[in-house]
Amino acid sequence: MMPDEFKKEYDSCRGMIEEQLQLYFTDGGVLADAMRYSLLAGGKRIRPVIVLQFCRASGGDMTAALPAACAVEMLHTYSLIHDDLPCMDNDDLRRGKPTNHKVFGECLAILSGDALQAEAFNTLFKSELPADSVAKMGRILARAAGLRGICFGQAMDMESGGRSLTLDEITAIHRYKTASLLIASAQLGVTAAGGSAAQLRAAEAYASHLGLAFQIRDDILDDTETTETLGKPAGSDRERSKTTFMSLMSLNDARHIVGDQTHYAIAALHNNFANTEFLEAFAIFLEERKC
Ligand code: IPE
Ligand code: IPE
Ligand code: MG
Ligand code: MG
Ligand code: MG
Repeated sequence: MMPDEFKKEYDSCRGMIEEQLQLYFTDGGVLADAMRYSLLAGGKRIRPVIVLQFCRASGGDMTAALPAACAVEMLHTYSLIHDDLPCMDNDDLRRGKPTNHKVFGECLAILSGDALQAEAFNTLFKSELPADSVAKMGRILARAAGLRGICFGQAMDMESGGRSLTLDEITAIHRYKTASLLIASAQLGVTAAGGSAAQLRAAEAYASHLGLAFQIRDDILDDTETTETLGKPAGSDRERSKTTFMSLMSLNDARHIVGDQTHYAIAALHNNFANTEFLEAFAIFLEERKC
């Protein structure tokens, strides 16, 4: 896929997502304001784009997957609000703006995260797809969020504070805290389209490699980019003495692993979907991203 064609498709998906996200939590009140503050602060929207594009690659109409796409972005935004709290990474900047707790205080930051997580499921369940598909999608999202998903990864990340980790341990953390939701996004798209079991497995393989590559790239950017480019504090991991791929190996070796995982992600798509051009280009785009 040519770069301008890729950009056009990415922008068009993001446009659909931004337009839909604007419609939520408009009733006013400080809790809704806090939720919208973080939800509408920008961000790459990579998870909802994955939902829409896996739906399309599996033969579905992207609009059928739009509620699921918004649900994933709500859940992701909650995880960022909580990740930035003083008791977690204690960061002051997110998506180029002061973090939620800096503006609304810790109580509302916790509660707006809680509410975004619950509203993610509310949004998903409003989907007009057949009831059995929606039930499957609810389970996919719940699994990615919970005891063997983001929360598990974040708990491992937090309790390891100060202690140096092995490559296997840090890889496991990255899989749970980050790849889980990417896997759910890909599988939600396939499920919205009524895709096959083989497509669900391929979606899992793609997003699992992509998720590992994505979090290692995040570790690299934390160490090599500026706060201005990132829209979040550069050097946050080093300041907190976090074990990351960057503290365990050279920049070059970390880049190589990102490249290998990107390659495996792309390979997992082959023979499973009618058209994988966008998803292939998307993996390369994420490998090379600067923020
Ligand atoms: C940040 O996610 C948290 C990680 C899992 C590394 P993104 O890099 O997707 O953040 P936004 O949504 O674009 O702000
Ligand atoms: C957190 O990883 C991933 C989440 C599940 C929120 P990081 O702590 O590295 O994410 P950033 O760098 O703050 O976005
Ligand atoms: Mg963190
Ligand atoms: Mg963080
Ligand atoms: Mg990071």
